[in-house]
Amino acid sequence: MNEAKIALVTGANQGIGYAIATGLGALGHRVAVGARDAGRRETAVEKLRAAGVDAFGVPLDVTGDQSVAGAAEMIEREAGRLDVLVNNAGISGQLGADWAQDPTTLDLDLVRTVAETNVIGVIRVTNAMLPLLRRSSSPRIVNISSSVGSVTRQADPDIEIGPVMAAYAPSKSFLNAVTVQYARRFADTNILINATCPGLVATAFNGFHGPRTPEQGAATAIRLATLPNDGPSGAFFDDEGVVPW
Ligand SMILES: NC(=O)c1ccc[n+]([C@@H]2O[C@H](COP(=O)([O-])OP(=O)(O)OC[C@H]3O[C@@H](n4cnc5c(N)ncnc54)[C@H](OP(=O)(O)O)[C@@H]3O)[C@@H](O)[C@H]2O)c1
Repeated sequence: MNEAKIALVTGANQGIGYAIATGLGALGHRVAVGARDAGRRETAVEKLRAAGVDAFGVPLDVTGDQSVAGAAEMIEREAGRLDVLVNNAGISGQLGADWAQDPTTLDLDLVRTVAETNVIGVIRVTNAMLPLLRRSSSPRIVNISSSVGSVTRQADPDIEIGPVMAAYAPSKSFLNAVTVQYARRFADTNILINATCPGLVATAFNGFHGPRTPEQGAATAIRLATLPNDGPSGAFFDDEGVVPW
């Protein structure tokens, strides 16, 4: 019998992260539920276990060096390695009227805060987990990005892509660019890393507006988390295929 794969999902207590944890669990992965709030984390772990998922909670705030180091130590103790890392935790930052973030009046602290979670947090978690991922026979890293991070789409006036979001959208462009640099660095290894857009999913993130369910939003992330060894790396996907940078 094959040993269960070990997966860490950040921000797994709700929304798309919870759906990714559920989906990977249903595929037989043992799931580390990364979440910063103890109550929300335990509730999610209990719900996952009730659904038959082999889940355990991992205290994890992606903005904290100590928290992330502690999470890596806990996974080392619990599982000894990591096969899948899904960097899902993310924030939009405060939005103005019509969900906009106007670049001409932008609070610089908002830019810093969003980048700290959506970009620096991903680098922090990825590098802390790398020693554990390197012990896997098929390490996979999935960064949950957004199509609003597609500079190509943002710059095309013929594409309807929502409000101007001068903190959130560039944070996902930055995340995409970082994903490519990791893929280049991992070129001679068995680590595959990709970015994905879940589509517009009804979650707390957007006040539960959006046509897609968290399960639909999780589908491509789950596919990328379980790619075969000859799968792609350094690319950006949604349900319909490759998303332009
Ligand atoms: N919903 C959409 O339409 C959509 C579209 C494109 C991309 N995305 C991306 O999908 C990802 C998940 O979003 P969602 O829609 O599922 O939103 P959500 O329901 O608000 O979930 C976000 C998750 O991230 C966690 N989180 C935020 N900051 C964190 C931190 N510093 N440390 C650890 N966890 C943190 C939250 O934890 P708490 O519960 O503690 O706040 C929560 O579990 C995000 O990266 C988002 O940018 C969403």
